[in-house]
Amino acid sequence: MTKQLFPILLLSVLIDFPSAVSAETKTPWLDKEHVEKRMDGLTEVSGKGPSQWRIIWTKDPATSATVSWTTASKGKKHHVSYQMNVPGKDAKTQSVVVESHRDGPYSGAEGEHFHHVRLTGLKPSTTYRFVITSDGQSSPSMHFTTAPSDDREFHLLFGGDSRSGHFARAQVNLLMAALAEEDKDLIAFAHGGDYIGSGKSWSQWSRWLSQHELTVTASGKALPIIPTRGNHDGGPLYDEIFDSPGSSGKNYFSTKLSPQVALVTLNSEISAGGSQQAWLGKTLQSLRPEVRWLLAEYHRPAWPAVKKPGAAKKFWVPLFEQFNVDLVVESDGHVIKRTVPIRNEKQDPSGVVYVGEGGLGVSQRRPDRNRWFLKAPGMAGAGHHVMRVSFGKKELDYEAILLDRKVADRTQLRPR
Ligand SMILES: [Fe+2]
Repeated sequence: MTKQLFPILLLSVLIDFPSAVSAETKTPWLDKEHVEKRMDGLTEVSGKGPSQWRIIWTKDPATSATVSWTTASKGKKHHVSYQMNVPGKDAKTQSVVVESHRDGPYSGAEGEHFHHVRLTGLKPSTTYRFVITSDGQSSPSMHFTTAPSDDREFHLLFGGDSRSGHFARAQVNLLMAALAEEDKDLIAFAHGGDYIGSGKSWSQWSRWLSQHELTVTASGKALPIIPTRGNHDGGPLYDEIFDSPGSSGKNYFSTKLSPQVALVTLNSEISAGGSQQAWLGKTLQSLRPEVRWLLAEYHRPAWPAVKKPGAAKKFWVPLFEQFNVDLVVESDGHVIKRTVPIRNEKQDPSGVVYVGEGGLGVSQRRPDRNRWFLKAPGMAGAGHHVMRVSFGKKELDYEAILLDRKVADRTQLRPR
């Protein structure tokens, strides 16, 4: 992306809707009416059956996944039935039924309940079809694919900051669904935090959860979420919604996405030092010799394009450099950025690259392009976007994809 081209793209994303864009185009979410129709009713829980479905990945997505949903009231019987997607086999004889492991009322809600079914013993690189049932009422049939246990290439989406801009949030969700539908190797979505404006507001979470249904594709493919806590996500609802990822009070964990790819999710909203820093050091030390691609993600940037650096800079950056992390994903700034490779506070070809900073719906800010770490070959811009990372054997391919599908930024990394 050249500096000359980017402001033109930005204008098309932020200000105007191209006229006469039909649902048959590759970008139906640029059509206002289409988006409003898709958003219709996705503001709260309605009806007696399951809604607000999501799949959660934490530590071992090759063999486990949590299927979660909401009901308007407590209800009595909640389960997921699932089966391997084996073409030609009778679905009914293959399915396994698992009763919910954790249910409860959402804090501050008006009786709405969460339900979590933890699926374990799954086969890697396998597509599972599932249906959620609460008291006899069922969800549509959906499917997801487990992470690989071999070294095949796969793709992941990253993005953060969906807390406001509900229309744009729906647009990005529809973009994500389209990217997922087109690409069987796109298997999950890591959210970098700031899902909503006020973490204690059930109504805000409820709208987010309902709009999250838009990320499910027409064929029913659901992208599992790898969750990160943001500064707007304080309070108990986060753990109720995502089944306490990385355990309540911590919310940090590492995800082995394949034998050669690991993602370390950190929590920038608790102490970055102390036990979290010690855990990070140990985790990176054990993962680095095992994997080709080692990534980290957290909310508040160490190398921000807008604000001041968070505590990550002091407590985590030295460890990223010591253990040669390949790519770090940050959010919070509401811009698009990619730093130069950084080591010892300087540009260094052996350094660590940081990307971000949040474009899943929230209004975009103006990045400070004068910061040394954003100058070419780094980049800074703005626009609603989602990031896609492809993990290959010879190359990691990173792209920031705008709503109109144009690529605002792209880079490749080679294995260390
Ligand atoms: Fe934030």
